[in-house]
Formats: sequence, structure tokens, C-alpha cells
Amino acid sequence: MLVVKLLLCYLLLKEVQPLSGNFWHITDLHWDPTYTLTNAPELVCASSGKRPAPNAGQFGDYECDSPWHLINSSVYAMKDILPDPDFIVWTGDDTPHVPNEDLGEDAVLDIISNLTHVIKHVFPRTKVYSALGNHDYHPKNQLPAGPNNIYSQTAQMWKDWLELPSQETFKKGGYYTERLLGQPGLRMLVLNTNLYYDQNKLNVALDDPASQFSWADHVLTEAAKNKEKVYIIGHVPPGFFEKKRSKPWFVPKFNQKYVDLIQRHHSVILGQFFGHHHTDSFRMFYSSEGSPISTMFLSPGVTPWKTTLPGVVDGANNPGIRVFEYDTKTLLVKDVVTYYLNLTYANMARGRWEKEYRLTESYRVPDASPASMHQVLERIANDHCYLQKYYEYNSVSYDLSECDSDCRVDHVCAAREVDYTRYEHCLAKEGAAAIYGGLLPVLSAVLSLVLSSR
Ligand SMILES: *[C@@H]1O[C@H](CO)[C@@H](O)[C@H](O)[C@H]1NC(C)=O
Ligand SMILES: *[C@@H]1O[C@H](CO)[C@@H](O)[C@H](O)[C@H]1NC(C)=O
Ligand SMILES: *[C@@H]1O[C@H](CO)[C@@H](O)[C@H](O)[C@H]1NC(C)=O
Ligand SMILES: [Zn+2]
Ligand SMILES: [Zn+2]
Repeated sequence: MLVVKLLLCYLLLKEVQPLSGNFWHITDLHWDPTYTLTNAPELVCASSGKRPAPNAGQFGDYECDSPWHLINSSVYAMKDILPDPDFIVWTGDDTPHVPNEDLGEDAVLDIISNLTHVIKHVFPRTKVYSALGNHDYHPKNQLPAGPNNIYSQTAQMWKDWLELPSQETFKKGGYYTERLLGQPGLRMLVLNTNLYYDQNKLNVALDDPASQFSWADHVLTEAAKNKEKVYIIGHVPPGFFEKKRSKPWFVPKFNQKYVDLIQRHHSVILGQFFGHHHTDSFRMFYSSEGSPISTMFLSPGVTPWKTTLPGVVDGANNPGIRVFEYDTKTLLVKDVVTYYLNLTYANMARGRWEKEYRLTESYRVPDASPASMHQVLERIANDHCYLQKYYEYNSVSYDLSECDSDCRVDHVCAAREVDYTRYEHCLAKEGAAAIYGGLLPVLSAVLSLVLSSR
């Protein structure tokens, strides 16, 4: 009897046991090999571009890209927090923000190679899915739509992580697809969206650089036929930068094509994971009827480097790394846990990586599905408490200042609308609401004055 009961318990537990897995996402490590602690604040690192770094410490400075110590610390922190992930997603940007003249093809390749080595050394048995960033090329941003030395050298460095057909497409266009962990029914799609970056002068005149769109369309069509579920990873995201109004990255026609691709194939796409912003944000995709169909998660960077993009005030961040929890059968994204290094504290005391937040707890949603992420966005848009919380996470708890009404519009519209025209409409709509909201107390004061004077 007892045996039967135990067996029953076992079977029941087995049934309800969530098919839970997890993976790391790291991005934008931006190693600056020139970083050095010196008494001349302008000379701490080449990536500060002569901006003084008066608080420079062992783990880095907000004016600078990552010193080796920070890179090493972040990779060992991953090992410490979650030593045996199912896989690692690494979405590029390995080199420092310095003029092209300070780098060169060999310097870029050496840096990619070095970071590849440390990840491999710390996670020797873990599969890594790796995408190139716009800084993983010389000259920066100019990634070509065809074979070149950097694609082939990188394919060589990553050969343990790439199946043979992946090496071939990677050498041609910097993209590839494989079954996720070799499992039937699951797929990873690694894109080279640097081809669509508006700073890339090589591909503007092309319709479909490296035939990546038609290839991805084909892969996703086949995935649907074969009942597969797909994750997409890449570096430069479509849509707008949430920290600067009306700042997109893609050439407009490529942005449109990307949105079309997701709308056509959303039923097989269970998540998109990108970097480039160095911030913590997300992008929603909606069907033409307005229902949430897909989410792109933008993970924070390891580099704390303060952006020099004009119009962004104090655009630094704390180093961040994150774990995604997912259903290993359906690929549903169940939760997102972000860990960070308080750089100020690290330089004063020690390199302590701590949990920043868990998505489902902070935003009170059941999971990270598109429906739930839509709910998150609505909370951020309509409740100042959620907006403020989101805003602090956005810079990985670096900028704790108030997110005002302009800030709200910038973040909400960037997250809601990837499409360029719809984004502009959102600005008009939400901006108008902000003005109206600001006017309302004035109007009612005037009204009550008028009324009371009668
Ligand atoms: C990297 O970090 C690990 C763990 O903290 C430490 O044991 C190792 O000495 C570090 N290596 C370098 C080169 O800093
Ligand atoms: C990477 O660079 C660091 C710092 O210069 C060095 O300590 C480490 O040995 C290098 N690793 C490899 C594999 O080149
Ligand atoms: C980071 O550490 C500094 C120094 O200990 C502290 O003043 C600051 O409040 C910390 N930031 C956060 C978000 O905890
Ligand atoms: Zn970057
Ligand atoms: Zn980038």
C-alpha cells in the first residue's frame, strides 16, 4: 500500500514538476585593455576620450569601458551564481569605444579571442550562442554582407560552439541557426543585425543584405512546418533607444522588414534577446489587431561606460548580467533575474555581485510571456511607482533620479512601438496626455476661481 502511495506521489510530482531550465545572457563587455589606475584622471582609459575618471578603481569607472578585472569578475560571478546553465547567450560588443585608429583588425580579433577564451575557460562544457556586435569589426559598424577575414577568424574561434553548417553561414553573413542544444522541436536563430545599423555604410542600398531576411523567413517557415519553437538573438535591436527621443538604430526599410518578419512568424518565436543599449528594457510586438505577440528582451551591459550620444544626460550604468528561466519544452520565458555589481561599492569594498530584481516579483506578473510583458508595460505607463522602479532598473540602479513626464513618454513609446510611424504617433498621443495632465490642475484652479468669483 505504502509502495503504491509512494509511486503515486512520484508520478504526480513528476507530472507537475515544471520543465524548468535556465540560461545566462551577457552582452556588451567592451573590454578596454588600456585601463590603468594612474594619478592623471584623463589617462585612466582610452574609452573615456579624455573625460576625467576621478573615481577610477580596480573594477572600473563610469567614464570607461571594462578593465580586465571587471570582465573576469563578471564571468566568475556567473559561475558562482549559476554554474551549470543549459546554455549561454552572448550578444557581442567586445572592444572599447575608441577611434578606429586606436584599434585595427588584429586588435579587434585579439579582444574577441581573449573574451572567448575566458568564457570557455570558466564554462568549458557549456554551449554558447554568440552574435557579433557592431564593435566586433574593424572599422567599427562596417560589417559586410559577405565573406571577410573577421567572420572567418571568428567562426574559427567559436568552432566548438558552432555546428558545421553554422560555420558556413557565419563565414558568409555572420548569422546561423541550429536546433537548440541539438533537441528536436527547439531552435536558435542567431542574427547579424549589424547589417541593418544606420551607421553601417555598406548595406544601405541593398534590399536584403547577405540574404539574411529571406534566409530567416525560410528558417522560420520550416520551423512552423516542423512544429519547432524558436529563440532569436542578436546585437543591434530594431526600434528606438529609450534614453533619447526619436533615436532609432536601423535603416528604416530594414526596421520595417524586421517587424514584418516577427508579425509573420510570431507563433513559433518564443523570445528575442538583444543587447547594444547597455540598459535594461524590452520591446513589445503586437498583431495588426493589437494583441501582444512577441517580446524582445534588452539585457544590460557589463561595461559601465557613460554614453557620449548627444542628448543623453548621465548615461552610465552599473554592470549587469542576467538569467532567464524558461520552460524547456515550450520555450516560454518564465522569469528574468538580473544580477549586478554596484561599481561604487565594488571599488570601495569588494566585487559583490548581487541580485537586483526578479521580474515576476517586481512587476507582479505570472511569467514573462508577451501577455505578461504587455501587462508590465501597462503598469509602467499608468502607475508612477512601477515607472520609477523600471527607470531605476533601466540603468541597473545607477541613475536613481525621478523619471518625469518626458522620461515616461520616451520609455513607454520605445517599449510599445518598434515601428517608426507608430512610435511617432505614440509620442504625439502620450505627449499630449502629459501636457493635458500638467494643465489639468491649472484648468481646475482657474475654473474654481471663476466659479467662486460668481
Ligand atoms: C578572476 O577571478 C577569479 C575569481 O574571483 C580569481 O580567482 C582570478 O584570480 C581572477 N583572475 C584574474 C586574471 O583577475
Ligand atoms: C586575456 O587578457 C588578460 C589581460 O591582459 C590576460 O591576463 C589573459 O591571460 C588573456 N587571456 C588569453 C586567453 O589571452
Ligand atoms: C552603491 O554603493 C554606494 C556605496 O556603498 C551606495 O552609496 C549606493 O547607495 C549603492 N547603490 C545602490 C543602488 O544600492
Ligand atoms: Zn555596446
Ligand atoms: Zn553595440
